[in-house]
Parts: sequence; structure tokens; C-alpha cells
Amino acid sequence: MIKKRSIDLSGHSTSVTLEDEFWAALKDIAKTENCSVRSIISIIDKNRSPDHNLSSLVRLYILKWYQTRMLTCHSETEWQAAKHFRDTYFFGPYGIEDPYTWTFHHKDHAHLVLYQGTEIIGYAHIQFWPDQRAAMRIIVIDENKRNQGLGSRFLAFIEKWLKRLNIQSIHVESRQSSLKFYLKNGYTDMPFNDPDGHESDPHDVSVGKVL
Ligand SMILES: CC(C)(COP(=O)(O)OP(=O)(O)OC[C@H]1O[C@@H](n2cnc3c(N)ncnc32)[C@H](O)[C@@H]1OP(=O)(O)O)[C@@H](O)C(=O)NCCC(=O)NCCS
Repeated sequence: MIKKRSIDLSGHSTSVTLEDEFWAALKDIAKTENCSVRSIISIIDKNRSPDHNLSSLVRLYILKWYQTRMLTCHSETEWQAAKHFRDTYFFGPYGIEDPYTWTFHHKDHAHLVLYQGTEIIGYAHIQFWPDQRAAMRIIVIDENKRNQGLGSRFLAFIEKWLKRLNIQSIHVESRQSSLKFYLKNGYTDMPFNDPDGHESDPHDVSVGKVL
């Protein structure tokens, strides 16, 4: 059955018309994301151009949310995507060859991709450390897909997966530009203590999270 609901968004009131199943899905998403249905609709509304119908955009948001999943790299396409993200955002801009491709098949390293439907839209590199710790070496979302909550979702997938592997804390050396992203996702000041003893960039900030 289709239901129309009025929603009070900061400053103005609007209405959204959705089938019961979509309202139920939206509630599930809000629960998982630890936020309210209203706050989800409010973000969608804020980013919409006036000629777009809010109810359709909410349906599309729900579809994309359920289409988003994380996998460890297995197929040739996934490894190519991993290489592409590393080269495009991390090594290419500095004009250097990726020195860490040996980690692609090393037991202490995991390479993860974020899918939206059949498209790979993000990539992360995790290193397993002794004492049930892990380091986030890289996390990146495709430039065209940023600021839609996907980085935070990827982080949540990674943390849940690490927890299942009995990892107790995750550590990051954050660039200044991504510090806000980590803090917003519950990371706090935490020493990095790299067991390999690699020197850190003095501009980076060490943060982490107990899982
Ligand atoms: C850091 C990075 C992974 C974040 O990814 P992202 O998908 O943009 O992250 P999110 O969308 O979850 O959060 C970013 C912003 O979007 C906002 N946002 C969250 N959900 C949103 C939604 N549904 N719609 C619109 N905006 C939303 C967040 O509030 C946040 O804003 P703020 O930080 O300005 O307050 C991405 O910027 C990136 O790939 N950077 C380059 C690589 C990098 O620096 N990686 C980290 C070091 S390895």
C-alpha cells in the first residue's frame, strides 16, 4: 500500500509518498546507520535540484543503499580496480610506481573493494598487526561518489568485518584533509605504534578506534 507522510525538515514541511515496503526499508536503514528517517530524507532533500521528485530520490537512495556491499579482492576486475585506485589517488600524483603491490598476496594484508551494484566505487588496504590490531593503510572513494555517506559506510563495513576476525582496534595515520572524516566516525587520538617502525609523516595525525 502507498502511504503519504508529511515530514518537517529544518525550515519547511514537505511530504513523501512511498509504498509500505520502502518505509520499512527506510526505518531499517536508519536503525543500521544510527540516525533518524527524517535526517536521511533531510540530506536527500538538501542535495536535490528543484526539478527532482523527492519521493523518487528516496526510492533510489534505498535501492543504492541495498546495492552497496564490501568484498575482499578476488577477481581480476577487483584487482584491477585496486591498482587503479592506488595509482590514481596515491602513487600516480607523486609520479612513483606503487611500491607495495607485493602486499596483494600477503597474509598480513587485505585489499577490499566497495561495490554499488556492479560498479566498484571504493577501495581499502588493511594491514593486520600483532596483538589483534589492524592498520588502515588506504581508504578511498571514487571522486564522483564522495560526500554521500559512502566512505562512512565503507568504514562501518570494514570495522564490522575486522571485529568478526577478532581484531580489537583499528589505527590510522590520517592526513589533515581526512581527519574530520575519521573524527565524525568515532575515531579518537590514539598512538599508531607501527610494529614495522616505518617513519610517519609529521603532518599526519594518529587516530584509532576500539572495535
Ligand atoms: C576520506 C574519504 C574516503 C571520505 O569518503 P566520503 O564518501 O566522501 O565520506 P562521507 O560521505 O561518509 O563523509 C564525507 C562528508 O559527506 C557528508 N555526508 C554523509 N552522508 C551524506 C549523504 N547521504 N549525503 C550528502 N552528504 C553526506 C558527511 O557529513 C561528511 O561531511 P563533512 O565531513 O564535511 O561533515 C574520501 O574523501 C576520499 O576518498 N578521499 C581521498 C583519499 C583519502 O584522503 N583517504 C583517507 C586517507 S587514506
